[in-house]
Amino acid sequence: MRCPGSLPTRSFLRHGAAALGLALGAASLWAAGTISPENTPDPLVPGFQFPEGAATLSGWITDMIRGEPLPAAVSAAERLHAHGWGLWTALTLETGQVYEGQRLRVFETWLTPEDLTTASGLRSVADANEIPRRRAPLRSFAQLNAAGAGSFSAEAVTPRVVGFVKFDPVAADHILRQDLLSRATLDTLLRRGAPQIPAFPAAALVVKPVFQVIKRSDLIGGRYSALQVWPGPPETPRALPPAQWPDVVWLDLLDGGSGGGAVDSLGATDGSTRTDETTYPVSRLIHYRLSAADAAVLDSDKPGTGAQPGDLAVLVAMHVTTREIARWTWQTFWWTPEPETPLAPSSSAIASLRPQQLRGAARNYAMALAYTMQVPDQPQVRGNNSGAAVYAYNPWIEARFAPADLPDSIPGLDPLGRPAANNHGVQSNCLSCHAQANYNPDHLDTAPRFTGARYVDLADPKFNGTLQVEFLWTIARHAR
Ligand code: HEC
Repeated sequence: MRCPGSLPTRSFLRHGAAALGLALGAASLWAAGTISPENTPDPLVPGFQFPEGAATLSGWITDMIRGEPLPAAVSAAERLHAHGWGLWTALTLETGQVYEGQRLRVFETWLTPEDLTTASGLRSVADANEIPRRRAPLRSFAQLNAAGAGSFSAEAVTPRVVGFVKFDPVAADHILRQDLLSRATLDTLLRRGAPQIPAFPAAALVVKPVFQVIKRSDLIGGRYSALQVWPGPPETPRALPPAQWPDVVWLDLLDGGSGGGAVDSLGATDGSTRTDETTYPVSRLIHYRLSAADAAVLDSDKPGTGAQPGDLAVLVAMHVTTREIARWTWQTFWWTPEPETPLAPSSSAIASLRPQQLRGAARNYAMALAYTMQVPDQPQVRGNNSGAAVYAYNPWIEARFAPADLPDSIPGLDPLGRPAANNHGVQSNCLSCHAQANYNPDHLDTAPRFTGARYVDLADPKFNGTLQVEFLWTIARHAR
């Protein structure tokens, strides 16, 4: 258990539940609390398949960044972005599973690091169908990041932005069978001289969803709540946490509002500046109602939240990665009031590639992706930092990072080829920072740390004495 004296944790609930289940028989009340991890479904998007062949994806990447001949480059870029949208369509589909009266989407059925640690008792993903499991508790990011070496100093300041990491059944099964969230395993691999953990299968998929909690007690007029909206990248790079975004939109829990891209730049906290045009039905966002247990766990994790049953968790952002290629594919999504014309780091061109099959709330999200660190791309080892950087970040997650949060940044070029420090979150690249991921039990101060956009040499001597964790920081930071 995480925290003695707090409310029942999930592991207590699980073991307590298992005992109860035995005592009460199969038809016990816990049957309703079992969530089965769903395989990533085929969303029937023409041209999309998962996993896509590594050679096919690599071919698109090469064509896209070569830049010439132009038609080939454009169509390759379109195919890569269409691939990102296909993943999003698949993992946000609703499943047949209903939990506490609410239908679960595919990613909601997946397993968290806590579900996969040795202590959980799971040995393979099949076991997860047998063991009662609650909805994953929302965790504060300060807490998520406190788990390992290096932390994001700015993360504690944004209230009510909470989330978790989830592994699809393929990734989860690999972690369980190889026991990768165990320090004993990682230590053994490191001591025996393994450079990295065993590679994940191509269909492995990992997500990091981020929610904002809307408290019913804070609603204006019993129905409206303000939500910050990303204003686009600052002209001069700087840390831009959500608390400093000037504009809001109003979400209506009774599903009114005619919002079609308009934002409220005054955002009076009493709601007096709200108009019908700056009001959006909450059904435009992926969301769920907190149960009593969800609220209790959140409150014990983040005292002072004051979460109550019936409060809403709305999905504001999600990171997605897949092992289809050796350096993984990286794409990120965030809610936008203008899904046809989202701001950078997304674009109208990217939005125009959303497939028809992407419907409902999930269609109102913007996407950015990073399948390379630079243009032109560099070899995986012994390349250099000479190319123009690719920036891809999530406004809700990385925009807040200042240079102190990204200590291994090195200066290079911005995406337009101009000299840039590339040391802010708005100048970051998923792949650059995740390429640095390593397990460092000896606390070597040479070990790679967080970075902004740059080339990372996967054979850099700085990895010596550490274990590379297949680009997944969670393995290094959540192993127990
Ligand atoms: C500055 C470093 C950094 C950048 C940039 C970054 N991440 Fe991460 N990411 C992390 C850390 C650290 C974690 C570990 C989980 C946690 O503590 O929140 C993580 C977790 C994740 C996870 C869960 C699996 C894992 O690796 O542990 C996914 C998926 C993910 N990030 C995707 C992305 C995507 C997509 C982007 C780009 C849009 C991105 N990340 C940018 C540091 C970074």
